[in-house]
Amino acid sequence: MSMNTAVVGLQWGDEGKGKIVDLLTSEHDFIVRYNGGANAGHTVVVDGNTYALHLIPSGILSSEKTCVIGNGVVVDPAKLIEEIESLRKRNVTVESNLKISSRAHVVMPYHKEHDAALERVLSSAAGKGDRNLSIGTTKRGIGPAYADKVHRSLSIRMGDLLDRDYLADRLEVICAIRSRELDALGVSTPPLDAAALTDSLAAMGRQLAPHITDTVYELHDALSQGQSLLFEGANACLLDIDHGTFPYVTSSNCSTLGIPSGTGVPGTNINQVIGIMKAYTTRVGEGPFPTEELGTTGEYIRERGHEYGTTTGRPRRCGWLDLVAVRYSTMICGVTSIACMLLDVLSGFDELKLCTGYELEDGSVTDRFIPDAHRLPMAKPVYETLPGWQEEIVDATDRDGLPAAAQAYLARIEEIIGLPIDIISVGPDRAQTVRSSRPTAALGS
Ligand code: GDP
Ligand code: IMO
Ligand code: MG
Repeated sequence: MSMNTAVVGLQWGDEGKGKIVDLLTSEHDFIVRYNGGANAGHTVVVDGNTYALHLIPSGILSSEKTCVIGNGVVVDPAKLIEEIESLRKRNVTVESNLKISSRAHVVMPYHKEHDAALERVLSSAAGKGDRNLSIGTTKRGIGPAYADKVHRSLSIRMGDLLDRDYLADRLEVICAIRSRELDALGVSTPPLDAAALTDSLAAMGRQLAPHITDTVYELHDALSQGQSLLFEGANACLLDIDHGTFPYVTSSNCSTLGIPSGTGVPGTNINQVIGIMKAYTTRVGEGPFPTEELGTTGEYIRERGHEYGTTTGRPRRCGWLDLVAVRYSTMICGVTSIACMLLDVLSGFDELKLCTGYELEDGSVTDRFIPDAHRLPMAKPVYETLPGWQEEIVDATDRDGLPAAAQAYLARIEEIIGLPIDIISVGPDRAQTVRSSRPTAALGS
C-alpha cells in the first residue's frame, strides 16, 4: 500500500517544513500544497544551493515528481510566474510536473493594496492610544483574498483566467467596488482600471494555462493507481484561522485539518503526519508568545539560527521551546512523529529551558494551550531546566553520536509530548539530517 504523508508546522511557522518536504519527496509521487499563498517562504538547501519557494511545492527540485497547488491555496499569478521563471533560470524543470487547481482563488493586486492599507490604518490607530490591532501580515494579500473567497461574489479563480470575456465582465463590477473600498482606507491611487487588469490577468492565464487543471481528479486518479501523496503545510498550526492564536493568525486552515478541504482528498487517506518543530520557538509579526526571550538569549538564537524571514526579511522573535503549544498542535494535527529542526542552533548554552506548563493569574498551573490572543498573554511559562552542550553538531550523522546533553534534551521532549522524534535536523542542507533507523510511526500501525 502506498504511504500518504502530511508535513505540518507545529509552531508559528518557519520550522523547516521546506527542508523536510524536499527530503521526503523521494519517497512520494505527488507533492501537494493545500493552504496559504505567497505568505509562505520555504527554504530548501541542496549541495550548498539555496532555493526559496513561496507558492510552488518544495518537491519541485525532483523533476520526475508531480507538484500540485491545491484548491485551498490562494495564488498570486504574477508571483507564481516570477517563481517559475527564476526556477527555470536555475535549470529546475517546471513543466507538466506542476499542476495548479482551476478552483484555487486568485490574489489580485487590489488584495495586496487592501492588506497593506488595513495594516497601516490599524497600526496608526495604535499611535492614538488604542490597542494595536495590526497583525503584522506579510502584505501578500492573503486575508483579503480569502475574505473574497468566502464572500463569493467578488472572487476570481485560476480557471477564470482562461476565459477572457467572463473575466472582463466580472472585473468591471469588482474594480468599481474595490476602488471605493480602497479609497475609504485612504489609498490615494486612481480608480482601478478593469480593462488593463483584464488584459494582464488574461495574459498570465495564457502563460499558466498548461498547468491549470482539475487537481481533485488528478489526485484521486493518482491514489487509485497506488501512487503516494505528500501534503505540504504552509504557515503553521498556531497560525490556523480556527485553532491558532486568533486574531494573530493567517486566513487559512494551516493545520492538517485543511488538507481535505484544500485538496479534495479525504483525511482518511493520510497514513502519517510528521510534525515539524524547531528545537526552540520563533514567531514573526504580532501576537502573544509566552516563551519569548527579548534579551541576549533571543539574540543568540536569532543570530545562530539566521532567524530573519524568508518572505519579508523581518527579524523573527525567538524564545525557548514551548511544549504546551507543541503538544496542542500535535493533538490538532494528529501527528504521528516529530522532526526536530535546527538543533545545531542550541550549541553553546550552559542551560536550556523547556516550557512544560502555564501558570495562570490565579496561581494554578495548566498544561493546556490557550488559543486566544486576549488570554494567552496572562500565561506565565513554567520551565524545566536541562543541561546544555557546547559542541557543534552540524556534522552529526546518528543520534547516538550527539552530545549526551543533546540526547537527553530530545528524550525529554519525546517524553513530554508522547511522540517519537524520528528526524533530527542539524543544519540547513538536505544532507544534514539524522533519521531514526526504526520504521516511522504510522496511523493504524
Ligand atoms: P519553513 O517555512 O518551515 O519551510 O522554514 P523556512 O525556510 O522559512 O525557515 C527555516 C530556516 O532554517 C531556513 O533558512 C532553512 O534553510 C534553515 N534550516 C532548516 N533546518 C535547519 C537546521 O537544522 N539547522 C539550521 N541551522 N538551519 C536550518
Ligand atoms: P511559512 O510557511 C511565519 C504570519 C505573518 C503574520 C500572520 C498573518 O514560511 O512557515 P498573513 O500575511 O498570512 O496574513 O500574515 O501570519 N505568517 C507566517 N509566519 N511563517 C509563515 O509561513 C507565515 N505565514 C504567515 O507573519 O504574523
Ligand atoms: Mg518560512
